[in-house]
Amino acid sequence: MTTSTNQFQKPITANINTKGNIEIGSCDLVDLADEFGTPLYIIDEKTVRSICNDYKKAFEKYPKTNIMYASKALCTSAISALLNDEGIGFDTVSSGEIYTVYKAGVNMQKVLFNGNNKSFDELNLAIDLGVGRISVDNFYELALLNTIAQSKNKTVDILLRITPGIECHTHEYIQTGHLDSKFGFDLSQIDEAVELILNEYTNLKLHGLHAHIGSQIFETSIYADEIDILCKEIARLDEKFNLKLDEINIGGGLGVKYTDQDVPPSTYEIGELIINKLNNSIKKYNIDEPTLFLEPGRSIISMAGATIYTIGSSKQVPKGRKYVSIDGGMADNPRPSLYQAQYYAQIANKKETQETEKVTIGGRYCESGDILINEIELPILNEGDILCVYNTGAYNYSMSSNYNRVSKPAMVLVNDGRAEIIVKRETLDDIVRNDIIPDRLAAK
Ligand code: LLP
Repeated sequence: MTTSTNQFQKPITANINTKGNIEIGSCDLVDLADEFGTPLYIIDEKTVRSICNDYKKAFEKYPKTNIMYASKALCTSAISALLNDEGIGFDTVSSGEIYTVYKAGVNMQKVLFNGNNKSFDELNLAIDLGVGRISVDNFYELALLNTIAQSKNKTVDILLRITPGIECHTHEYIQTGHLDSKFGFDLSQIDEAVELILNEYTNLKLHGLHAHIGSQIFETSIYADEIDILCKEIARLDEKFNLKLDEINIGGGLGVKYTDQDVPPSTYEIGELIINKLNNSIKKYNIDEPTLFLEPGRSIISMAGATIYTIGSSKQVPKGRKYVSIDGGMADNPRPSLYQAQYYAQIANKKETQETEKVTIGGRYCESGDILINEIELPILNEGDILCVYNTGAYNYSMSSNYNRVSKPAMVLVNDGRAEIIVKRETLDDIVRNDIIPDRLAAK
């Protein structure tokens, strides 16, 4: 993965073509807007494959590594099929994600099920479809899962999700590993959970420990601390219970470069650090080499994504900002309004060298907070221009909504000049599909 000194990351195939327009995957963005309409999510296949390749190479020196893509970042059937083709496994958190990867033909042994409140139906589905590991989050789930497993006369392979008590410097809403977190067993509760598994919950087979610290992380030392804690616990549990755990899952969280203030380590740097730290901890605590699971989401898919919008109305507030509105916003990308996330954008049909102006990109939704980009210098904009926002592959479509009853955009996968629809644009009929008018209210 690139940690370019540019202001932002964009798909590796992003270029200016001979017409002077931006292209991604050798597809002219203006042509894509004409053919598929806007807003449009674009995923560049080459970028996804190249990042997967970087991850695989970065962890080559520790062959017992399993990369499990965190589906929550972007989960669609085609994306699942693409990552499956790359040999990547899947971290899932709902029956919807489990079903999506299952329907995409993924070997379910390569799927992990996480979450702090998995339902009876979801656990049932996970067992029936043969999900490889379930990371159990709390005492309630341990009992529930054992009961379900017993009723099916099956043994379920599990990890224990633990809260290692590490804080990372990211947005408060996307921290998870600190002590007072809703996720996982506190370190002081692990022994009780293990005793229950060994003595009572005999339909559960514990393989290892799982933690996840947070998301959009740049501090590599956090992973070192996490690995140390997980290995120490594995050694301690062996000594206390004579329990041989041989798997550690360190979660995801590696950040991407949305702006020039974001300085993520490269996949290679993080790979080297994790492997060195793991090897040190293996020696330090005298444990057998565990299988290592990673759950990267954002760092695999974010940079491959871009979203194009059409510029509509604009407004110069006297002595204030100039607002330019697009045909999308907080319903297709809720991150700026939710986390004050920042994005970079370019105009697909205008050269950067043209005269520029500072504008604020407003969304189309009826909410003042629906500002996609606050003050960005762009070539002077006109109605009909195509705005391309970069780094939107992760947590955009997956967190999208139908706010204001606006249809969700389509998504295309681009590669070598071919653009294939992988998610259809919602129609107006889709908007009313699940509505029911009680007979007594039906128009007479
Ligand atoms: N594993 C677990 C257990 C997680 O909870 C998460 C993310 C990941 C892996 C993947 O993390 P990543 O590599 O993508 O950072 N909606 C927020 C991000 C929430 C992340 C939640 N958990 C955002 O848009 O920034």
